[in-house]
Amino acid sequence: MSVRPWWQSAVLYHIYPWSFQDSDGDGIGDLRGIEARLDYLVDLGIDAIWLSPIFPSPMADFGYDVADYCGIDPRFGTLADFDSLLASAHARGLKLLLDFVPNHSSDQHPWFVESRSSRDNPKRDWYIWRDPAADGGPPNNWISDFGGLAWTYDAASGQYYSHAFLKEQPDLNWRNPEVRAAMLDVLRFWLARGVDGFRIDVLWHIVKHADFPDNPLNPDWDPATGEMHRVFQLHSTDQPEVHDIAADMRAIADAFGREGDQRVLIGEIYLPVERLMRYYGLAGEGVHLPFNFQLIDAPWHARELARMITDYEAALPEGGWPNWVLGNHDRPRSATKRGAAQARVAAMLLLTLRGTPTLYYGDELGMENGVIPPDRVRDPRELREPGLGLGRDPVRTPMPWDDSAQAGFTQGEPWLPLGDGWQTRNVAAERDDPHSMLTLHRTLLNLRRSTPALATGKIRLIEAEGDVLAYEREQDGDRIIVALNLGARPAPVDLPMARPILSTLPGPLIETAPSILRPDEGLILKVDAKP
Ligand code: NOJ
Ligand code: MG
Repeated sequence: MSVRPWWQSAVLYHIYPWSFQDSDGDGIGDLRGIEARLDYLVDLGIDAIWLSPIFPSPMADFGYDVADYCGIDPRFGTLADFDSLLASAHARGLKLLLDFVPNHSSDQHPWFVESRSSRDNPKRDWYIWRDPAADGGPPNNWISDFGGLAWTYDAASGQYYSHAFLKEQPDLNWRNPEVRAAMLDVLRFWLARGVDGFRIDVLWHIVKHADFPDNPLNPDWDPATGEMHRVFQLHSTDQPEVHDIAADMRAIADAFGREGDQRVLIGEIYLPVERLMRYYGLAGEGVHLPFNFQLIDAPWHARELARMITDYEAALPEGGWPNWVLGNHDRPRSATKRGAAQARVAAMLLLTLRGTPTLYYGDELGMENGVIPPDRVRDPRELREPGLGLGRDPVRTPMPWDDSAQAGFTQGEPWLPLGDGWQTRNVAAERDDPHSMLTLHRTLLNLRRSTPALATGKIRLIEAEGDVLAYEREQDGDRIIVALNLGARPAPVDLPMARPILSTLPGPLIETAPSILRPDEGLILKVDAKP
């Protein structure tokens, strides 16, 4: 019998290294800081950690501009610190995933320094260089995801290079076999060191159309959404050749894994569901988990969510394992989007759906978007298109550990201000509060781990009306029902004979299934086996 891979029943915890725990007083989180907090994560009940990039970087995009794929940025520590963190994580039964950034390097990476040095440099073709258009302008109309042209002119060599993000993040040319080989070696380097897998940055971006045609204009473009939406990214993303590359990555990960100890690949892909599914590979040879971000933007209506869950489950390819995400370092915090009460319901949803959930650091405390005064803005996304609310600093504020100075995050001045309310919304204050968001997460994670029906069981939507979203999870005859009231009014429910075992609301649990969910209530019930 084959063993179920660990990552299917696992809960992933996403750490933004800049903001988790500082150990040396420079105001920036670091690897020793993370290591010192591992017991917190064990106690919380997660299984695996994904670290946003920790590699040497000029930090034009806070680490997503890598200048050396096989090192550690001194802000975060050393390779020895990394080995120590990895060993400590493994000693506690935690897996550790790194962030692989294949679409682009930093413009300070030695490869790009060489590439831009002259047209006949052997590394010229490692990046995407094109002649100017006939009028001297850019080769086409592609737009950077951070606004402005996706092309920068290099006067010295008379060509443009492409960058899907900042000009400090030149796009690597994955059509060049040398690039492919060098980047795949990066995966081998870290896998050999013992990492348990990777989250792969903007996987759907890494191959561009070979002929660089203009992207179609978006006739409904709303400038308030950012300039990137002025065109549809038809030719600059999601090209068929990407799947071959994903399969190469997968083969490497598989070669390093053993049964029961697989290395996992999670692709960052923002695409509609049908196209997303292709990243599993036609025969399961793609990434293990193409990130499913639908919950982040989902309209908070029970009927819409029910349809979304049904459609996603139905679209999964044979053998494809689902996954769900509620927040990350690029998107507004769940508690800010939905309010404190519904954020609790959302947490119950995330941790009881079928599939691997990813929890963003601080969401377990109910952290909200921070307020960043103009003179403390750091994110290039905000600096380039200010005032549209696209900046990501608010969701990257330091983790509040207690009510001491700087919330126990640092002895120095934190790189971003602490989020409002940290004096009471912090780990120490929430740990012993039976009604806190942290306690809710701990309880949910514990329940999930001890209940196979929740961790890996089948899912079946239960017919419901209005604001109620309900589903059953089942494994080996054990049945769990989840009933969520997405509204602020009492909502009638019709549930089979079942016994409540956890509510998002305070107070003692009643013995039998209620006929009404209270406002903002999420409830988990156990269907007792027939005598
Ligand atoms: C996606 C990452 O999540 C984001 O933070 C980053 O800015 C871009 N990719 C570019 O690497
Ligand atoms: Mg530090």
